[in-house]
Formats: sequence, structure tokens, C-alpha cells
Amino acid sequence: MPVDTTPLFRVTMAEDAAVRLAPVLVSGWIGQGPKVDEFEAALQPWTGGGEVVTVNSGTAALVLALRLIEARGKYVITTPMTCSATNIAILNAGAAPLWADVDPVTGLIDPLSVRHRLADYGDRVAAVIAVDWAGQPADYDALASETRGLGIPVISDAAHSFGATYNGRRVGEVADLTCFSFQAIKTLTTGDGGALTFGRDHQHLAKRARDLRWFGIDRTTDVLFRGEQDITEWGYKFHMNDIAATIGLANLPYVRGTLALQRHHAATYDIHLDAKFGRTVPAADANGAWWFYIVRLTDPAEREAFREHMLGQGIVTSQSHWRNDRLTIFAEQQRNDLPGMDEFGERMICLPTHAGANEWHVVSAANRFFG
Ligand SMILES: Cc1ncc(COP(=O)(O)O)c(C=O)c1O
Repeated sequence: MPVDTTPLFRVTMAEDAAVRLAPVLVSGWIGQGPKVDEFEAALQPWTGGGEVVTVNSGTAALVLALRLIEARGKYVITTPMTCSATNIAILNAGAAPLWADVDPVTGLIDPLSVRHRLADYGDRVAAVIAVDWAGQPADYDALASETRGLGIPVISDAAHSFGATYNGRRVGEVADLTCFSFQAIKTLTTGDGGALTFGRDHQHLAKRARDLRWFGIDRTTDVLFRGEQDITEWGYKFHMNDIAATIGLANLPYVRGTLALQRHHAATYDIHLDAKFGRTVPAADANGAWWFYIVRLTDPAEREAFREHMLGQGIVTSQSHWRNDRLTIFAEQQRNDLPGMDEFGERMICLPTHAGANEWHVVSAANRFFG
């Protein structure tokens, strides 16, 4: 592997993060405190202006969301094309995943397949989880038209799509509940962290989410930690701390530039790679976050050779995640025919869009593969 290899993902950290962190470390307060409040307020314009409840990971946000809508003992319709965190959260919440198919071009959950699962499982379904794979928002309007009449909430796993918009609205205000990840390599990082936001009709859930992220204790009435408060509903140790929030506050001003660069790389790949691959997602005219870029090889048999070729050119590419319905941990779950997943999963490969990726190097390396 060449020394100056371009990784698929990279940490984007503000140069002044350490400077901003220093006073917090010696302030005498590093747990959940004023910096968490400040970070939540700073996130609001990015997520639609509503309530923001930060937590210590995207996975925690998903478990909390499922708890808020009482998913325990029920099914959650979900996509296999995601990081295992999405679907492990369903198990953690005491629910069972029910696989819906994905669009063979975008890899996003297919609303028609959701309709079929809803028809089969009806009131045993607690929620639908859509994942904004690569940072392209799922079709939330189509999902809402399948679920709203049934009173079934849509949860957006927006781990890849912080900063994206969907039909002019910000990811974070579109779905009933939205879960963000600020893990190490995400567009916005807090080291590790996450946030839960709420659609217009679900803002009232924020208070319970705040209590549940801290064992079920109302931190606003127990500020002095007198330890006299009864706990009426058990919660989790899911809250964010002031160290993570300070890192997030340092990085937030750079997100606009990071997103612009990710979108620019994606638009360049659109133009210069489209003819070489099977039809890809048109990145340029959508407001996705493009945390990474996806292409589809025309012949699935070429994927390994393409990956090796790109690595030889100093660029890491990969499928990033394996379809979750094939993981051993889900072997006991309902198996479904998923032709869209078969098609997408065999051909898809991810290219880097981060600030350290040289788009022309990626384009010319990919073009060399096709001779
Ligand atoms: C789609 C998706 N959902 C959820 C998560 C979990 O987020 P976290 O690592 O912050 O728990 C990830 C990965 O980080 C992810 O890629």
C-alpha cells in the first residue's frame, strides 16, 4: 500500500479544539453541564429549530428513540443497508427487525416494500427506521404517506446526513424522530456522541428523552445532586458530557465548509464517473451530505478487482457495511426476499469525499481501471 494512502474516512477536527477544551478540563465541571446546553442550542439551526437532546452516541439516540415510542416486544421495519448499529439498537430496545427492501440504485429503504410489511404485520409494528445511506435523505414524504394513517412513527437514522436537507427542510425536522451520530469520523464529530431531534408533532417527547438519558432523573429539579429524587421510570446512562460538547462546539463552525467540499467531490464524481459505472445516484442536484460517495459496478464480479486497483493507486474504497440481514446475530429474524438489496449490495462500492481526498486523483485512478 502506498505511504500516502487516502483513507475512506478521516477525522475532521478544528485546529482550536484543544485550546477550547483546556479551560473546560480544569473548570471543575466536565460532566453534563453548560457546554452541553450550549451545544444543543448551537445544533438547533442545523436541525430545523426544534428540541435537541444530545446523547453519548448515535446508537444511544436510536435506543432512546425506540424506547420513547414503546417498541419493546414489537417489530420495527428497517433497512439491511446500514451499519449494524441501526439494527443492533432495535435488539437493544427489546424489539425485532423486520427487513424492508431498498432501492437498487440509491440503497435507500423502499416505501413500497414498507407498505407490504405494514400490510402483513399491521399493529405489531412499532416504527419504521429509514437510514440516510451515504448522507442522501430517504424519501420521508413517501414513508409518511405509508405510516401516518396508521399512527406509526418514522425514525430517521441520520448518522450519515447531518447538514442535509430534504425538500427544503432540514434533516432533523422531517421524520417523527431523528438520530444523529457525532462519532469520530462523521461530518461533525464530538469524539463520540449523538443527538435526538423531534418532528413538529413530537416535540413533547424531548422532556422524557432528557430524563431517560440520565437514568430517569429530572436534572432540572435535582441540580444540586441531593439524591432525594424518586425515580418513577428507569432510564439509561446516555447523556453527553461537557468535554464532548466542547469538541462539537469547536467543530460546528467548520461543518458548512466540510459539507460544501463533500458535495463538490460528489458532483465531480457524478460527472466524470457516471458513464463508467452502472447508473449512480445523482449527487449534484440533491442536498445530501455525501459523507461518502457510492458507485455501482456494472459487473459485481469486478468489485474485488476494483478495490485492489484503487488501493494500488493509494485510495481506500470499500462497501463500508455488509447487508445486515445476513449477519449471524439476525439469523433468527424473519427472512425476506430483497431483490433491491441483492442488486445494490453486490455492486455498490464507496469512494472518499472528505477534505483529504483529491477528487481528480480518485477520478483518474477509477478511470484507469476501465482502461
Ligand atoms: C447508519 C449508522 N447508524 C448508526 C451509527 C451508530 O453511531 P455511533 O457510532 O455514534 O453509535 C452509525 C455508525 O457510526 C451508522 O453508520
